[in-house]
Amino acid sequence: MSICVKALLVHNIFSAGDVLFVQEEIDEFKELACSANFEPANVITCRRQKPDAKYFLGEGKVEEIRQVVQQQSIDVVLINHTLTPSQERNLQKVLQCRILDRTELILEIFAHRAKTFEGKLQVELAQLKHAATRLVRGWTHLERQKGGIGLRGGPGETQLEVDRRIIRRRIETVRARLEDIRKQRSLRREKRYRSNIATISLVGYTNAGKSTLFNRLTASQVYVANQLFATLDPTLRKIDLPYVGEAVLADTVGFIRHLPHDLIDAFRATLEESKEADLLIHVVDAASPQRSENIQAVNNVLIEISADQVPRLIVFNKIDLLEKAQASRIDRDQSGVPVAVWISAMSGEGLELLLQAIAERLNNTLIHCCLKLKPTEAAIKAKLYQQNAVVSENHTPTGEILLEIKVPEGKFQI
Ligand code: GTP
Repeated sequence: MSICVKALLVHNIFSAGDVLFVQEEIDEFKELACSANFEPANVITCRRQKPDAKYFLGEGKVEEIRQVVQQQSIDVVLINHTLTPSQERNLQKVLQCRILDRTELILEIFAHRAKTFEGKLQVELAQLKHAATRLVRGWTHLERQKGGIGLRGGPGETQLEVDRRIIRRRIETVRARLEDIRKQRSLRREKRYRSNIATISLVGYTNAGKSTLFNRLTASQVYVANQLFATLDPTLRKIDLPYVGEAVLADTVGFIRHLPHDLIDAFRATLEESKEADLLIHVVDAASPQRSENIQAVNNVLIEISADQVPRLIVFNKIDLLEKAQASRIDRDQSGVPVAVWISAMSGEGLELLLQAIAERLNNTLIHCCLKLKPTEAAIKAKLYQQNAVVSENHTPTGEILLEIKVPEGKFQI
């Protein structure tokens, strides 16, 4: 039985902008609340050009919220913006209930969803870093974790200093563990790189359908749900692609507008899969009214993690939901290179076209040529074999080696 936690949602409109856009922001906020297992009982909007230093909101609005909290027995007030530690404390004092800002709300969802060891560590690190900035009272659960023995540094050390020290130490431990995992990950990546296996990384706004597409392409069963951030941990699978051969496909964490900075930092290691990929498949929910804003939000995160230079193919997904029926198709640029594919990952429509576009994009960067080596250059031949680059080998009557090679441009090393 799930316990219903009643939430009051507060959204500030900073400028007199597009009404439709405001509604979309509120809708997404509601979805975030539901994804964190809260029940949105009410939404209050306000208009301020600048946040108030004390409460973020104006005092009149705070009083209105206080009354609603009391009358409707609200358990938690969610603010769709980032609060300073003192704004959060002041609101908590007046409203007498739990307050979560946008960063904490997203962290809450991440905490529910992380499944792998790495995912859990990443979320814990983001939570600890966030907590460190808002530390005012004792973190009693952390003391309990440590057994509470020998914690005090000396007779003069205050509870706050003890808490800070515990958090600092835990941050160091979590960082060190993540660093280990990162090294292993980078070793594995290097191995793939050396063996010439292409890596394709799926990126996209949360709920765009990345996991559904991943499952279609790999026929595996990664958790798919109509929830924000269902996938948190990077999932890698080897796949055999027609026209391309072996490749590694990576599913990554969903992106979102105003993704808190701590979270980008925490997931940087995971997102490195995208940075190092040979091809990024940017999955877009084609039926979403916020389609272009979502594309922009993803592009911004890609810039932030330095993955904006990686070749990209857009996949407009969910064509089955479009009002005007769309057949699957490939869009090409002026030179005929595929730039977008329209599909439905759910029904499988357009999947063949997507595979064709992937192959074209990957093969586009292939060096395909013949080399003639002297018999004394066997070491070069061995290197090319190590890179899986040799398609065929022949010999001339004079003993020279004729090699037909095929290798991705950026990976060609002799
Ligand atoms: P995050 O894990 O939040 O990043 O989400 P995701 O991008 O991995 O999305 P996911 O694959 O979990 O799909 C989100 C929802 O969209 C699920 O309910 C899917 O069933 C649905 N969905 C995915 N592809 C399609 C499609 O082509 N058509 C329709 N109608 N629904 C789809």
